[in-house]
Amino acid sequence: MIKIFSNMGTGTSYAIQNKLGEGMCGEVYKAWDKNSRTSWAIKTLKRSNFNSLKELKSEAMKEIDALLKVKHHENVVNLKEYFQKGKHFCLVMELCRGGTLNDFILQRSKDSVTNLRFMKQLSSGVAFLHEQGVVHRDLKPDNILIEFNNLGEPVVKISDFGLAKVFLETFNPSAQEKCISRKYMRTCCGTPFFQAPETQSFHYTHKADIFSLGAIFAAMMLKQKVQINTSQVGVKRDLLVVCMGNLTVADYEIFFNMDYHLPADLWINPQLTLLLNSLLRKDYHERPGAYQLQCAIDKMSDKDVETDIWREIARKIEEADERMIKKDRKRQRKQRRLNNWKKCTIL
Ligand SMILES: Nc1ncnc2c1ncn2[C@@H]1O[C@H](COP(=O)(O)OP(=O)(O)OP(=O)(O)O)[C@@H](O)[C@H]1O
Ligand SMILES: [Mg+2]
Repeated sequence: MIKIFSNMGTGTSYAIQNKLGEGMCGEVYKAWDKNSRTSWAIKTLKRSNFNSLKELKSEAMKEIDALLKVKHHENVVNLKEYFQKGKHFCLVMELCRGGTLNDFILQRSKDSVTNLRFMKQLSSGVAFLHEQGVVHRDLKPDNILIEFNNLGEPVVKISDFGLAKVFLETFNPSAQEKCISRKYMRTCCGTPFFQAPETQSFHYTHKADIFSLGAIFAAMMLKQKVQINTSQVGVKRDLLVVCMGNLTVADYEIFFNMDYHLPADLWINPQLTLLLNSLLRKDYHERPGAYQLQCAIDKMSDKDVETDIWREIARKIEEADERMIKKDRKRQRKQRRLNNWKKCTIL
């Protein structure tokens, strides 16, 4: 039987299709609206995940307020409408067909040109959020989704505003830094590996988002991963991260009281390495603002990331790998012949 979610206010009905994902607060489904003949993503926040209906409403409204304030940016997921359905709160959002940034990066081979495009789009998205007075507070590859543009190219969309802090004001880009930097937050939120060190001392600003961006960019470039448990017993999944052994970047910076630096043999443009390192500074005053970051990264071209030397090294590694594979096959063939010969002589 097809499940239908209807918004009694507008009369729009959505036929629920498959489940797209689930998180701490609820589930997300693909849904078909036959009036607009469009598929949407419906995030349902469930009463059972909250202490009371009042708490559910207040948490849902926090996410909705943030989404309403940041509507209509190419790199932020767009909220179409929202409604209450019994003990559920439904948020109807644009559908992102390419899954999460986490899976997108892990399922493809390293591609520094796409990485730079995503970095530009994310910097633009976060600059817009901060301009609108919204601090996301949980930026991570699982909360960044991929949709495709008219040319079929992947475009990143910042999503999941469940932990966002919304300030009443908006901040114009040139004056942004001075004004928004005075807005302090005290609730420790975020996700290990992407969480800024200062959030652990309950006194931080919008620059916590900049640290998270730095950790996301570094993770994309390095493609390090760890395995984590999922909500299904016995099922694990890969998580794209940046870490130093067992330590997250924030833990490393707090423990050793020093800044994290990207490995020198990353073979990307030194200017980009410097910029990425500046996002991960332990002292948040030393990190650039999102608008500053957007200006710096917009100036960089594909050529800047994929330098000739990096391409040459990658080619040589590939050739060496191929030689090794051929050698290995030859060795295996020889071993098989030897085994057959031994079998024959024993018989
Ligand atoms: N607009 C969308 N289009 C496609 N898939 C989506 C969309 N929104 C969410 N999803 C999927 O649902 C998953 C959970 O969504 P979301 O992160 O918003 O939920 P959550 O309950 O706040 O999760 P958590 O608290 O664990 O981060 C996402 O990781 C993604 O796979
Ligand atoms: Mg999430």
